[in-house]
Amino acid sequence: MGRVAVGARGLDVSAGRHRLSGVERGRVSFVGAGPGAADLITLRGARRIAEADVVVWAASLVMAECVTEHARPGAELVDSSRIAHEDVLALYARAADEGLRIARVHSGDPSLWGAVQEQYDAAAALGLEVEIVPGVSAFGAAAAAAGRELTIPEVAQSVVLTRLEGGRTPMPPREKLREFARHGTTMAIFLSAARTGQMVDELRAGGYPDDTPVVVAYRTTWPDEVTLRCRLDEVEAVCKERRFWRQTLFLVGPALGAAGTRSHLYHPGHFHTFRKPEPAARRALRAARAAGSGAP
Ligand SMILES: C[S@@+](CC[C@H](N)C(=O)[O-])C[C@H]1O[C@@H](n2cnc3c(N)ncnc32)[C@H](O)[C@@H]1O
Repeated sequence: MGRVAVGARGLDVSAGRHRLSGVERGRVSFVGAGPGAADLITLRGARRIAEADVVVWAASLVMAECVTEHARPGAELVDSSRIAHEDVLALYARAADEGLRIARVHSGDPSLWGAVQEQYDAAAALGLEVEIVPGVSAFGAAAAAAGRELTIPEVAQSVVLTRLEGGRTPMPPREKLREFARHGTTMAIFLSAARTGQMVDELRAGGYPDDTPVVVAYRTTWPDEVTLRCRLDEVEAVCKERRFWRQTLFLVGPALGAAGTRSHLYHPGHFHTFRKPEPAARRALRAARAAGSGAP
């Protein structure tokens, strides 16, 4: 839970819950709704929505069922896409005055491009209990839809979560797409579908060849979801033809097309605290490692 603030009215923590002179202390829970499908919200997230007096959510980004399946009858539902940040802050101030529980529902996981920090800090400054309930991010949902692991032994062991610069949010220095692309590992690129030509140019400039495998994931887990595999040099045409200019995520990198490698962890020659190695498999694995090749 968030910070405990001692305000003019004082805090009573004797009953294990913080109360402000008889009024229940208000709470804001930032809840990750997942990528779309209502059953991809976590149990904790669903509980927070069920407990809430007010549920704030963006109807354009979070499927209605995520809220309506869990909210209690009589809960106040506020569509955040129709109001400004100041109006949301006014709701938090009301929660502090009236001891309300607010579920602020964000798409995917709130830790990524959710504008959560400014809200979290404002709610904490109002003396509210504040928490973040994690959610399934779109990049995990897109990998699942494509049936791909993003980290493949000896091919890619890192995932870069990033976006194209431009639009309303300037990128910090040294975070250009081409700089990340130089690592040649798996990239999950958010918020970039409106400028696929620029995205592909940046990835090429960073060294990805034209035949780099790409997964294009449009509205993953929504009823109209589309998941496509293509090459880097096909991405722009695919997106233009299908009019994917928002709610689209790109997974890029050799791991998206890799096959034939195997993890050392489950190799019979590998041992760890809970498993002994098979001697012959152990010898073969050691020989392969010495030769610099993958697990046999
Ligand atoms: C403002 S960001 C929010 C990201 C979110 N917090 C998350 O963890 O997935 C919105 C971007 O996330 C990606 N995105 C979110 N939901 C998606 C979905 N269901 N299918 C494909 N991309 C999605 C798109 O790149 C979209 O432009």
